[in-house]
Parts: sequence; C-alpha cells; structure tokens
Amino acid sequence: MNLSKKLYILSFGCQMNKLDSALVSSALIQAGFILTESVKDADVVLINTCSVREHAEQRVISHLGHLKHIKKSRPDMIVGVIGCMAQRLGDKLLEHEAVNIVCGPAQIPQLAELITKAVNEKKKELAVTENIRRSAKENEHGALEDFESAYSSEDEIIPSQAYVRIMRGCNNFCTYCIVPYVRGPEVSRPPDTILEQIRKLADSGVKQVTLLGQTVNSYKYYKDERTWSLADLLIAASQISGIEWLKFVTSYPSEEFFDDIMHAMASSPKICKYLHMPAQSGSDKILKAMNRNYTASMYLELLDRARSIVTGIAIAGDFIVGFPDETEEDFQATVDLVQKAKYRNAFIFKYSPRPGTTAEKRWLDTVPDDIKQKRNAALLDVQEKISDKLSMEFIGNVEKVLVEGLSKKPHLNSKDSDNNPQLVGCTGTDYIVVFNGPVSLAGQFANVKITRTSPLTLFGELV
Ligand code: 5AD
Ligand code: SF4
Repeated sequence: MNLSKKLYILSFGCQMNKLDSALVSSALIQAGFILTESVKDADVVLINTCSVREHAEQRVISHLGHLKHIKKSRPDMIVGVIGCMAQRLGDKLLEHEAVNIVCGPAQIPQLAELITKAVNEKKKELAVTENIRRSAKENEHGALEDFESAYSSEDEIIPSQAYVRIMRGCNNFCTYCIVPYVRGPEVSRPPDTILEQIRKLADSGVKQVTLLGQTVNSYKYYKDERTWSLADLLIAASQISGIEWLKFVTSYPSEEFFDDIMHAMASSPKICKYLHMPAQSGSDKILKAMNRNYTASMYLELLDRARSIVTGIAIAGDFIVGFPDETEEDFQATVDLVQKAKYRNAFIFKYSPRPGTTAEKRWLDTVPDDIKQKRNAALLDVQEKISDKLSMEFIGNVEKVLVEGLSKKPHLNSKDSDNNPQLVGCTGTDYIVVFNGPVSLAGQFANVKITRTSPLTLFGELV
C-alpha cells in the first residue's frame, strides 16, 4: 500500500502513549505516509489521547474544535482519535463532527487499514475493545505483540534513546485510576521478544533503553521452569553490547522482587540508579481508600531499603492531593512523608474524578478546587526546597550525561558561539543538564562539570 499522504501526530499523556505514537508513526511511514510538522498541510491527523485526568481530555476536545474549523476548508482531511480516550468514549467520540476514526490502544495495528477505509469509503470507523477487562488472550493481544515487535520505537527526537514496553495494562485497581479500564488486564511480554528488540535497537545505535510498564516492577514471565522478574530482564539487557544505560518506569511500592531489583541496580553500572515510585498520599486512611496496598511507614521502609542497597539512588514520586475526604490532617501526613522521603523530584496532581472508577462511583469530589490548588502549591513548595538542596550537592561534580541535543529553553548560560550552542542532556539519575558544546554531541555521552543548579536542572561546562 502506498498512500503518500502527509501525517501529523499529536501525542498527550505518559511515556506509554509516546511509545504508541512512535510505533504508529513508524508503521505508517512504512505504509507510505510522510510525517509533517504542521496540522495545516496534513492529510491525516492523529491525536493520541490520555484519560488519566479530566484536564487532558479537555485539551483534546479543544483540539478537535480547532480541527473542525480547519476541516471547513479541507473537508478531505482525516482525523483519527487514538489511545485511552478513544477506548473510554468509543462511539461517543465518533459523533464529534471533526472525527473520522476512533481507535483504541489495542487496535493501533489496524490503523493503516482504518485510514484507507475512511478515505475510500468516506465513512466513520470505530475500532475499540468491547470488553476491556476480558483476558488479554481473548482480546487483541497477539496482533499487538506482532505489531510491537515489528516496528522500531527509537526516539526520533532524542537520538540514541528508545522505549521498550515490557508489560501492558494493570490489575491494581487503585480507586482513582482509569488505566485498568482503558488499557486492560496486566500482561507481561516474553523476555525473548523484549531482549531481541533491545538487541536490534543497540545495533541501530541506541545507548539508553527505558523499560515501560504501569507497574513495571511486577513484571513476571514464566518460561523454561523459571520466573523472569524485572531484575532478571535488567541483568540480561545490561549484557547486550552497545546498551549503556537502562532505566525503568513506573514502580509500584511492593515487596515483591524489590530487593532483587535494587541488588541488580547496585551491581551493574548500566542500570541507572533511579527509581520512580509513586506514594500518592502519606495518609494511611487515604491510601486505604485509594486501594494502595501499603501504609506510609511501609513505603518509607522501602525507600530506606533502596538507599541502603543502592548508594546514590535518586527517587521520584507522584502524589494526588484533594482525594475525596482528604482532611487537613491527611494532607499534613503527605507533607510529612514528602519531607522524610527526600525525593529528587515529585509530580503532584489534583484529584480528578474519572467516570467509572471506584472512587468516582463511591465518593463525591468533596475537596473544593481552591483547597486542592492550595495543597498542590504547598506540597510543591516543600519538595522544591528538598530538590534544591539535593541538586546543590552536585556543584563541583563531573557528571556523565547522555546528550539530547539543542536546548529549547534559553537558560542563563546561553549560546557563546555558533559552534558552541547550548545543549541539554540527562544524567542516569534523570537530572536535566544544560551546558554549551558542539551539536555533534547529540546522542553521545559527555562529561559535564556542574557549576550551578536549580531544583531540577544542573548547569555546567563540558569537560
Ligand atoms: N486524578 C489525579 N491524578 C491521577 N493520577 C492517576 N489518576 C489520577 C486521577 N484520577 C496520577 C497518579 C499517577 C499519575 C500518572 O497520575 O499520581 O501516578
Ligand atoms: Fe493506575 Fe494504580 Fe495501575 Fe498505576 S498502579 S496504573 S495508579 S491502577
């Protein structure tokens, strides 16, 4: 099939979604599409959507309004909504005037076909999973597996980096979370396929691979009378020549495999000393209502263990403020946990009720938005002071950085000559590093001496 059409992909949401967008674009390029940077001259526009908070969905709806306007002068333009929102809303989304195709996360292998049909038959196309919680084997698992292993997921914007999904879906049913309802049951991918994919990426020059999963540390695959864990995968992947850095996100606070994963991290310089492990709250009452299977003290104990096994580990967390019935006291327990956890970084979100989740069905959204906002800002403030102190400890250090390319934001140490523009890169512990150097360093490792810091960014000079 050669469609020779111009394709524009807009992606919202997490790294899982970015990976899906990369797979889709790679598959559609092979089918003859050409990527374009501008919506205006696109023949096909795909929006890869996220349903985790209402705000993300509102942004998509407003984009669709904009596309509806463009379609007035370009009626042949095909608009496809893919991803979590497509799965969540299905035919309701298809009713939108601007939308031609609605395609769920499990149906992305059918996209080329859906686009061809929408063009030729001039009718709307819907492809979503009917019963999302049915076992994955009964759903489109096989087609997804073939699709995923056939197409490259090399990051086109950041050279030398790639994402590899090691599992799909989630079985945890945290009461606020939409993920189990849009991504289906948890399935771990076979280790052979994952390792083969990493080998291919390494052969094409990839140096850093990030393993992805909603609860990546619960990866489990039974094969040849043994169970593969994330620790086993990391160790096997670290032996692939060419791979220099391995990262993994996101971890669930659980005892299972925890020490094994930490020991793997401590023993291999290729496994980056970075752990992203959301706590969500510091109040045991709220954690219970969220159906998180731990208490604040169990969580902090895991952090202690991580730090005692892996010297220099950087830890990041996520929090939700304003969960139903979160009192000032509950919030203070979260502040207390953040103070004790000493995160390198924390991502803080205001609770957003998601239709169909247990929390949405069981409780009213009792915390008013201004209180959520206040708690969000207060928690950020606490974390910023911690981040600032931690990053200041880097001053004078020489850090190994994987260079991404030109820095987009003009930071304080701006370009000092055309041959020495401002670059941006990342450390193994996920700090952004800004420094001046030749653009040819993009995709390479560099050593940077840190001279100045802000809470989340290190600034320095190329050594
Ligand atoms: N409201 C607010 N934040 C949420 N998250 C997940 N669901 C919700 C929700 N309904 C946050 C969690 C998770 C991150 C990806 O998004 O903190 O770790
Ligand atoms: Fe959602 Fe909880 Fe699964 Fe994370 S672990 S994806 S928060 S249900």
